[in-house]
Amino acid sequence: MSAGQFPYVRMRRLRREGIRQLLSSVSVRPSSLMYPVFVDERLREKQPIQSMPGQFRYSIGDIPALCEEMERCGIGAAMVFGLPETKDDSGSGAYGKDGIVQKAVRAIKENSSIAVATVCTRAAVTPHGHCGIVKGGSVDNDATLEIYGRIAVSQAAAGADIVAPSGMMDGQVASIRKALDAEGFTDTAILAYSAKAASSFYGPFREAAESSPSFGDRRTYQLNFASGTEHIREIELDIAEGADIVMVKPALTALDMVRRARELFNVPVAAYNVSGEYSMVKAAALNGWIDYRGAVTEILTSIFRAGADMVVTYHALEVAGWMKGEVV
Ligand code: PBG
Repeated sequence: MSAGQFPYVRMRRLRREGIRQLLSSVSVRPSSLMYPVFVDERLREKQPIQSMPGQFRYSIGDIPALCEEMERCGIGAAMVFGLPETKDDSGSGAYGKDGIVQKAVRAIKENSSIAVATVCTRAAVTPHGHCGIVKGGSVDNDATLEIYGRIAVSQAAAGADIVAPSGMMDGQVASIRKALDAEGFTDTAILAYSAKAASSFYGPFREAAESSPSFGDRRTYQLNFASGTEHIREIELDIAEGADIVMVKPALTALDMVRRARELFNVPVAAYNVSGEYSMVKAAALNGWIDYRGAVTEILTSIFRAGADMVVTYHALEVAGWMKGEVV
């Protein structure tokens, strides 16, 4: 119907000042945001992450102040990544009682009532930087599963509410559930990095967590981003293995996967708004090329509109601060 013909639909009626806010069916709530926290055993005080302006690697000593900030903002959870003092091929630091992740979890729990998720992987604790046990130059799936169980149990014992296996090994959710239950951690939830693609958008994170693989890449275990069917299959399998929450990662290049997961399955869906997605917006804003607050609000709203129940994002503290009327 062309303009001038009657009656055409006057969509603009609902866009008037004073009316249009009624149509915001999606909004971003701090309690649905998870904040990634990098804790570095070698530090005495927090250090900025060059590739992620505004983000830090924290020392254990910084945790009380960070907890105070997270609580004030009302964010939903912290997701802890640990950088150990030393890396060794056994990766034993990942499940030690006094490993950096375990220490960080205890410190957060002592200083706040924030929910804590821990990433269950080996990437940051071994010199080769791969997510599993390396045998004969490649990652051995089944040998890795037993170690993941030990890591998960040690994290739960330290107080983690949620463990988040991120290594993309087949069977990892089932073996972690079994290990947790066998040790009595039946209430520890599993947030599975189910549909994690091999992505160029993890670049800044690898600087932050010093987890670049020293040889090869992660394409033999992380998803081909061009294969939507495999994303869904991975999610389906993780649900069958007992995942409590499934995650799609990265978020912005896989909003269609978030939507499909939401429509196909009755489980909570998380999305990870990854480091490259953060740094692109931050860099453009620092150059004066984009309105940071507007862009971030639009990005996070779009991830929730796609169907996510929760979003892991480096913007979490800033966004939550804005909502409390703080200018950051
Ligand atoms: C480690 C891990 C990675 C990210 C989260 N956990 C990197 C990778 O798999 O290479 C990326 C997160 C981000 O880019 O923000 N398994």
